[in-house]
Amino acid sequence: MDDLVLFAGTANPDLANRTAASLGRPLGACKIERFPDGELSVQLLEPVRRKDVFIIQPISPPVNDHLVELLMFADACRRAAAERITAVIPYMGYARSDKRHGRREPIAASMLADLFKTIGIDHVLAVDLHAAQIEGFFHIPVDNLTAVPTLCEELRGKLAEGTVVVAPDAGAVHLAGEYAHRLNTSVVLLHKRRESGTSARVTHLLGEVRDRACLIVDDMISTGGTVAEAIEALLRAGARRDITIAATHGLFVQDAQRKLAIPGVHKVLVTDTVPIKQKAWAELHVVLVAPLIASALNRLVSHETFGDLY
Ligand code: R5P
Repeated sequence: MDDLVLFAGTANPDLANRTAASLGRPLGACKIERFPDGELSVQLLEPVRRKDVFIIQPISPPVNDHLVELLMFADACRRAAAERITAVIPYMGYARSDKRHGRREPIAASMLADLFKTIGIDHVLAVDLHAAQIEGFFHIPVDNLTAVPTLCEELRGKLAEGTVVVAPDAGAVHLAGEYAHRLNTSVVLLHKRRESGTSARVTHLLGEVRDRACLIVDDMISTGGTVAEAIEALLRAGARRDITIAATHGLFVQDAQRKLAIPGVHKVLVTDTVPIKQKAWAELHVVLVAPLIASALNRLVSHETFGDLY
């Protein structure tokens, strides 16, 4: 533990402070400045030579700034002879860019994995990556933690009898299975067709929702479009106006809060992997992932297995 240095980028200082408090140690001293032209400057104010360095920085909006800041941190650590550099990325922006769609496109998640390695990052600690197979883009170890057990603990005993877990699109099917298994209920699947970066339409519903309460689960809520569409489809199919939403990453960009202000939505449950700015939203509940991240860091430092983490 004495060889550990934990730095916080500017993306989620509250989460970094809570993680440091859980570990019982201070954050590493550093100075981060933004120049008038938009460039960044990162300076480590304490030695990291031969240290086990952790940099906490979700790649949350503004994603490009936070990404570059993380890369600059890692570069500074490598040049200052850190022994091992672990990027703690509670939310990985660009993770949705994990395949080409038959057009001339980059695969940004793969590109990031290459960048991390080139810059000298030795290890990545993530939380609920958009798709588990993103790990395959990396040639360094990736520990993909999950907040699902923590979210399920928060939901247990608070859902109406017969609540079904709803996957709002094909990508959420595995996740929905995890929730349903832990909450001992069944899964309903929606098939969504994305029309643009900001709009999607549900085209099919598999399962029975008539007169049922619904728990819609997803890895992330960005504009809220996916979940809002799901709610509309569920209500059309006769679901009860008793809806709970759970997601690991609550980005809530643009007018997401307004989109989700649908009568019958009683609870929107997310974690603090990204900073939550919506203070005046009665339905919003936030569970903390700092204890989970701190337990993982403890295990990494002492070379212990993650097997008993949950
Ligand atoms: C998509 O595959 C993701 O899992 C989310 O469903 C989606 O990205 C959420 O974005 P939005 O809230 O903008 O619909």
